[in-house]
Amino acid sequence: MKNGESWQAAGMSFTPITSAIGAEVEGVDLAEDLSDEQIAALRQALSDHSLLLLRGQSVSPEQHIRFSRRFGDLEKHVLSDFCLPGHPEIFIVSNIVENGRHIGAYGGAKEWHSDLSYMAEPSLGSAFYCLECPSEGGETEFASMFAAYDALDDDRKTWLASQRAVHDYAYHYATFLSHRKPLTEEQKAKIPPIAHPCVRTHPDNGRPALYLSYALVSHFEGMSPEESRPLLKELTEFATQPQFTYKHAWRPGDMVFWDNRSAMHRACPFDDNSRRLMYRTTIEGDRPFFKTAA
Ligand code: SIN
Repeated sequence: MKNGESWQAAGMSFTPITSAIGAEVEGVDLAEDLSDEQIAALRQALSDHSLLLLRGQSVSPEQHIRFSRRFGDLEKHVLSDFCLPGHPEIFIVSNIVENGRHIGAYGGAKEWHSDLSYMAEPSLGSAFYCLECPSEGGETEFASMFAAYDALDDDRKTWLASQRAVHDYAYHYATFLSHRKPLTEEQKAKIPPIAHPCVRTHPDNGRPALYLSYALVSHFEGMSPEESRPLLKELTEFATQPQFTYKHAWRPGDMVFWDNRSAMHRACPFDDNSRRLMYRTTIEGDRPFFKTAA
């Protein structure tokens, strides 16, 4: 982990964004096929800083997919209507309506979450590319779950170490996305609720990260929703305090690559009369685990 200072690796320069989360990367063109050395340096920085910002990029869907595939296989989102035609690995997030239909996922992601946490093997990371954005608002805010975990008091750490949280997309959809057409039974069958440890060990660097969210978790395993909800709210609020966060104001050509194993994010509001068009690839990950320190 590099603190505060910039560093160079594989011909690229890296500069931390905040002390808790993020590093800006310069000297790399994602339209090119990157070397193994560049990918290893990016992977290391992602594990250490949970988010990489690469500005001034110009990538086609094929180049976006090729870059993302260097980190793992890609997910195809259960909301297949919002995937880019011909490129199901690209999930469109947008408020744009064409021919009477929304071309991408709209009005969502406003609550703190980690992408695809409701899967048995949730996503490793997401590469989010800005094509169009409003001049004001529509930022994405990120929070370090390493920093949040580190700041918990010892009693909370001990309690959370033995808890599992039930991540449930159908619950989330019904509760937070009621403006969209309901999930079909076929879609629901693909995403049954799943319990994950509330603290997960990062597989690359062994650091513990808080892994829960008020919006995606319906309840703690073995506890009622009534008991769970206030505690989930309190923990999510604790984990997303300003000292753990970074708010990214988008410019077209920005690629932000974040680590879903150690960061949560949420979309900020914007005037719906302006256009926002973002393409996301979502890299497959492993089953979360928690290993106590020896
Ligand atoms: C997402 O959750 O992947 C989208 C976030 C955003 O729209 O800013």
